[in-house]
Formats: sequence, structure tokens, C-alpha cells
Amino acid sequence: MVQKRILLGVTGGIAAYKSAELVRLLRKAGHEVRVVMTGGAEAFVTPLTFQALSGEPVRTSLLDPEAEAGMGHIELAKWAELVLVAPASADFLARFAQGMADDLLTTVCSATEAPIVLAPAMNQAMWRNARTQRNVALLVDDPQVSLWGPDQGEQACGDTGPGRMLEPQALLAKLQAPVDGVLAGLRLVITAGPTREPIDPVRYISNHSSGKMGYALAAAARAAGAEVTLVSGPVALVAPDGVAVVPVVTAADMLAGASEAVDAGCDIFIATAAVADYRPDQCADQKIKKSESAMSLALVRNPDTLATIARRENAPFTVGFAAETTDVARYARDKMQRKNLNMIVANDVSRPGLGFNSDDNAVTVFWAGGEQPFEAQGKAELAAKLVALIADRYCDRASAG
Ligand SMILES: Cc1cc2nc3c(=O)[nH]c(=O)nc-3n(C[C@H](O)[C@H](O)[C@H](O)COP(=O)(O)O)c2cc1C
Repeated sequence: MVQKRILLGVTGGIAAYKSAELVRLLRKAGHEVRVVMTGGAEAFVTPLTFQALSGEPVRTSLLDPEAEAGMGHIELAKWAELVLVAPASADFLARFAQGMADDLLTTVCSATEAPIVLAPAMNQAMWRNARTQRNVALLVDDPQVSLWGPDQGEQACGDTGPGRMLEPQALLAKLQAPVDGVLAGLRLVITAGPTREPIDPVRYISNHSSGKMGYALAAAARAAGAEVTLVSGPVALVAPDGVAVVPVVTAADMLAGASEAVDAGCDIFIATAAVADYRPDQCADQKIKKSESAMSLALVRNPDTLATIARRENAPFTVGFAAETTDVARYARDKMQRKNLNMIVANDVSRPGLGFNSDDNAVTVFWAGGEQPFEAQGKAELAAKLVALIADRYCDRASAG
């Protein structure tokens, strides 16, 4: 693990007491730590505690003539190789998301070129609040910023839900994740594209899926260090470098191909394929001739690849996709529970220019106790963010045992 110069920002939340332990763990792991506290934080823990644990003076004020004699805030911003704000209060997230620089911590965050990691901590209603979520969406969209947590569970105020700061040990574990990619050493199986369900030798039932999202995820996962197998329906796309492709046609092939790939070893299974729910009961041996003015096809249910993999005894961490046209969040959460998924990525395919067959997508990701919206953006850019979030949730589950 690479030792870093870490600037720890502590804001005014009850979890500030845990940051004292975090400083101790970071120092023990060999990192250099300097602490900046907001005015709110000082009401919870004294600077003396952090000074003793970090072995460095603690800065609390921006407009401090002595500390700023040498432009201390810029020196701090340049010194930091990583800025970690833990806990990050709702108030800090709001100010930072808006680009404000009205105290030392937000000013240093604005001035630094180092990556900035935020570990939010707040009451569950504050976290769920639509304004907080809008601020979070802005921050997640910022390539300099990563969000770690929040966790869910019992809270200091007696509520239960999302908003707890990740434990200091979990934050340290994330910092120590391999430097060569968040998915290094992990095996991913990703399904992509449509399926084709034959009616006769020349006709089939299919859908508008282009496979672009699945292929973009495969490329992003590969770039993040994973070993990737892409089980792909018929698409007009070139496989990303370094990704193994298993071509399939029908839903039955998709299940067989995905099952075999998962059997070969799979830590994370991501199902983006638009698998046909039904297939013609019979596939005619010869081309069906035009005769009657109308004809009907009897359809039967196809096997459900996603649910089959997710319900296995030792199922991989499973991420589904839900393309909906109405009531997206409700259907997505319902699908996640019904199919026993760890996460679901929901997109509203009724929005013009987004989703199916397009280069852009806007989605909301749901998991037990959390959700994360992603604004409309290119599928490659979105894929990188989804991979980071999936890796995050995967690590959290793994560290929770
Ligand atoms: C007892 C108490 C506990 C609080 N806990 C939190 C908290 O966990 N998270 C949070 O976002 N705000 C919490 N607040 C509110 C913040 O302290 C308040 O929004 C403050 O302005 C944050 O300032 P800062 O972001 O500059 O640190 C708490 C307030 C009190 C009085």
C-alpha cells in the first residue's frame, strides 16, 4: 500500500468522534495526516484531540492572520495527496456541491487538485431529503470527488436507515484497495444486447437493445482491472480489448452462456441484456407463407437468466438492469426484491434520446437502503461511474462479511 499525505476534514456531525479513531488508524498504516475542522466539528470534538493523534497542529479557521501569513490554505491544498472529509455533514455537502468557499475546509477543497473522498454522515431523513440527494448527485458527477458510504443501520438519534458514516476500519480498507483498479483481481460476467426468438428460419422476435451499455460496462470494468466475460446477444459492436465474448442468440442460449461463464468463476454478475420474456411456442421448419389476412403466434415464457443466477446458492454479487416506461423506481425496487438482486440500475426508456439504442443514458441505481441518480451522459462516462459504485457496494458487502 502506498503511504499518502492525507488531509482529513472533520465537519459538524455526531460521527466526528469516530474521526479520532480514523486518524489513529491512518497514522498506524503509515499515512501522514493533517486535520482541518469546521466550526461545527469543534462543537463535537476539540482540536486538541486531533492534534494529539495526528502529531500536527489542527487548523480550524480560514481568516487566521498567523496561519495565513504564508497562504496556509493554499499550502494545505497543495500538500494533500488525498482529501478525506469524514464525517461530511449535509451542510458541508450542500456548500461544497455549490462551489462555496466560505470556510477553511471548503476553500481547501476548492483549491486542491488531489482526489476528494467524502464520507457522509447524517440522520436518515436528512440523507433521503431531496435537496441533499440533489447535492449528492452533483458531487458524484464530479470526477475529482468520490462518495464512500453512507452505511445504513441504527443511528445516534434512534432512527434506523441510511446515513451512518462508514466505520473508520472500513474507510481505511477502502483507502488500501489495490492501486491498479477498483476491480483488480475480480471476475465479472456481463450480459449485453437483445436476444432473438425465431419464428421461422427467416423471422424472429427481438427488441431495440443495442448492447451499448453492456459493452461500455465491460470496457469500464476491464479498465478497472477486472477479468471480464461478456455474454452478448446479436449486436453491431466491437468487443472491448481484453474482454472475452460469448456470442448467443436466444434467451435459452443466454441462460446457458451466462451459467457457464458464472460456473467458470464470477464475483460480480451484471445483467444488462434485454432478454426476450417470451418466445414462439413453435419455430416453423420452413418459412411461413403469407396466406390468411391475419395470423397469431402462441408465445411461451423464456427462462429468466438474471433471476436464475441471482437465486443460486452461492450467487455472485448480482446487478440487474430495469428498462421501464412508467413508475420506474417502484418497478425497479420490486424487481430487485423479487429477483434477489444486490443492486438494480433503472432507466426510464420513455425519455427521448436516452436508453435503448442511444449513446446517452440517465439512470438511478437502487440497493437495499440506498439509491443514487446519474444525470444524462454518455454511456462510456456513465459506465465508469457505475463500475465505481458497484465496486464500492461490492467492497462494503465483502467487508461486512
Ligand atoms: C447534536 C447534533 C448532532 C448533529 N449531527 C449531525 C450529523 O450527524 N450530520 C449532519 O449533517 N448534521 C448534523 N448536525 C447539524 C450540523 O451540526 C449543522 O448542520 C452544522 O451547521 C454543520 O456545520 P459544518 O458543516 O460546517 O460542520 C447535528 C447537530 C447537532 C446539534
